[in-house]
Amino acid sequence: MANQDKIFAAPIEKMGDFTFDANVAEVFPDMIQRSVPGYSNIISAIGMLAKRFATPDSHIYDLGCSLGAATLSMRRHIPHDSCKIIAVDNSQAMVERCRLHVNAYRGAADVEVREADIRDIEIANASMVVLNFTLQFLSPDDRQTLLTRIYQLKARWDLDFVGEILL
Ligand SMILES: C[S@@+](CC[C@H](N)C(=O)[O-])C[C@H]1O[C@@H](n2cnc3c(N)ncnc32)[C@H](O)[C@@H]1O
Repeated sequence: MANQDKIFAAPIEKMGDFTFDANVAEVFPDMIQRSVPGYSNIISAIGMLAKRFATPDSHIYDLGCSLGAATLSMRRHIPHDSCKIIAVDNSQAMVERCRLHVNAYRGAADVEVREADIRDIEIANASMVVLNFTLQFLSPDDRQTLLTRIYQLKARWDLDFVGEILL
C-alpha cells in the first residue's frame, strides 16, 4: 500500500514552505489520489491519447513528471519503439524515484528522465506535450511563455496535443 500522506497534519509556517522534497515524494501517490478526483482515469486517458497522437520517430514530453505516472501510462500505450518520452521534473527527490519506477517496467518507447526546469528545456520534434497538474506551479507569466512556446512548435514540428488540467 502507498505511504499515507500526512504532510498537512502538522501546521506549516506559510504556503511558500511547501516543496516537492523527499517527504512529499514519499507520499505523493496518496497525496495526488486524494487531492485530484479521477486522477487514475486522467492518467489512463493520457495513455490512450498517446496511443493516438504519438507519431513514430518523435519525442513525447511529460513536463513536471513527478513519479512518472503519465510517462508510464504513455509508454504502456505507445506502439512505436522509435518514440522517445522525455520526462522532466526539477525535484531531485521526484526524479530519483521516477527513474526507479521507469526502470521497473518495460515498454516500446525509450524513456529519458531529466532533472531540469521545464522553463529552460528545449522542446523539439514533439508529437505530444503533457502538462498534467504542473502549470499551476509556474507564475502566470511563465505559464503564458511556456504555453506560447509549445503552441508555436505546432507549425514547425506537427505537435498534436497539449494537455493541462487546472484545479
Ligand atoms: C502536481 S505534480 C505533477 C503531477 C504529475 N504530472 C502526474 O501526472 O502525476 C507537479 C510537479 O511539477 C514539478 N515542477 C514544478 N515546477 C517545475 C518546474 N519549473 N520545472 C520542472 N518541474 C516542476 C514538481 O516538482 C512536481 O513534481
